[in-house]
Amino acid sequence: MRGHACSRALLALAAWAAACTCGAQPSSAGAQLAADRGCYNCHADPPRRNVPSFRELAGRYAAWRGQLDAAAEQHLVDRLHHGSLLSHIAAHERLQEDEARALVRWLVEGGR
Ligand code: HEC
Repeated sequence: MRGHACSRALLALAAWAAACTCGAQPSSAGAQLAADRGCYNCHADPPRRNVPSFRELAGRYAAWRGQLDAAAEQHLVDRLHHGSLLSHIAAHERLQEDEARALVRWLVEGGR
């Protein structure tokens, strides 16, 4: 009996923790991945000089929300992952392809 009530309390706590978007704790798997990969060193709010914040990027990427087809997604992944002629950012290039994909999806969904 007591064990039962206890695990119910734990479940409630887990649900609360998952729903909580407060404080400095990353609020999603995407945010956690971005934190793990050092993205916030540059893209936090306020961002490092001359770097767009994730909020700004998410605003830009919102254009694809709900209509991110495979080609558009690959385009964004490549842009993040491989940069361009003039942009080589180690933190971007170090990403695994599936990580870059997850982070692009996260930004399209709002980057929170
Ligand atoms: C050393 C600073 C730095 C770090 C760390 C960094 N970025 Fe960036 N990022 C930039 C700069 C500068 C730009 C804008 C110029 C560019 O696009 O290359 C940028 C641009 C971007 C863009 C826009 C690309 C486009 O053209 O649409 C995305 C998305 C992005 N970063 C995601 C990330 C993610 C995810 C991480 C963590 C893996 C990360 N960045 C880490 C500096 C950084």
